[in-house]
Amino acid sequence: MSKDKILQLLRSSKAGFLSGADLASRLGISRTMVWKHIKALEREGFGIEAVPSQGYRIIQVPDTLRQNELGQGLKTSIIGKDIRLFPEVVSTNTLAMEAASQGAPEGTVIIAEAQTGGKGRLGRTWISPKGNLYLSVILRPQIPTHKAPLITLVGAVAVASAIRKHSSVQAAIKWPNDILISGKKVAGLLTEMSAEPDRIRHIALGIGVDVNMELQELPLDVRMNATTLAVEAGAQVDRKMLLQQILLDLEHWYRIFLTSEAEVLKEWEQLNMTIGCRVTVSGMGEVFEGLAQGIDQEGRLMVALDDSTIRIVAAGDVTIVKK
Ligand code: BTN
Repeated sequence: MSKDKILQLLRSSKAGFLSGADLASRLGISRTMVWKHIKALEREGFGIEAVPSQGYRIIQVPDTLRQNELGQGLKTSIIGKDIRLFPEVVSTNTLAMEAASQGAPEGTVIIAEAQTGGKGRLGRTWISPKGNLYLSVILRPQIPTHKAPLITLVGAVAVASAIRKHSSVQAAIKWPNDILISGKKVAGLLTEMSAEPDRIRHIALGIGVDVNMELQELPLDVRMNATTLAVEAGAQVDRKMLLQQILLDLEHWYRIFLTSEAEVLKEWEQLNMTIGCRVTVSGMGEVFEGLAQGIDQEGRLMVALDDSTIRIVAAGDVTIVKK
């Protein structure tokens, strides 16, 4: 499409300005058509400076994901080969589970600008206004069903490493799958699965990252313990580049996981901020306190109580009491 091509040329123009005549001849269209496309891009939120005798150049880019750009420059071979972008969905996880049951291949990514019914862990809501990343990746690992929770750990390792690389901030994992910066939550993961007793049919690995939204969009109780990448990095974040880094790191760690779970668990431990801390665990109708000792081979948290008994926790909320 000529408009997308013009955008691509303007974005990659090293010389700054590109003349209307130059754009017209490269695309084989009239200068009037070029001008019409420029106006359309401005309506989409691009700031385009037009200087007589020099041409056009981009001075502002809207914070919008564009379907045709998401895969550009993406260096993965499975994850993100098919990326499906939606302006608004109920939940990318729900959509990914449906797409997977209709045969969508492994690595398909469902992504949305906003969710009306974003799902969090333990039946909670994931508030999903525009400006963040909401994606679900379809995976079909050939692993025993009881190993499925490890996929969330793979995702957490990928998201924490991608955030560290992309924004140079110290993102860390709080068990099981929260990503925190300076003690505040910036991302969460939710894995859903369709399985038979001995075989996984498919998994939707859901990832929500608070990127550029205004924190005021979150209710007060959530806001108190939350942050965004833009706040932490001190500048608006390029969501496409962050998405691509997440997909790249996810493919890297997923491949490693399929041959060596231990390596992923080791990396999870490197990136985590839970092990070695005194924690309160709540869930399943009870609350207890102890020392987080480590995770087992299924990614469950091992907590040593004060009477030296060890509790193995598969699901629950962890609050760090003391480092
Ligand atoms: C949590 O920390 O409670 C998990 C949050 C997971 C949110 C993501 S956003 C994309 C995907 N779609 C959903 O409905 N949920 C996950």
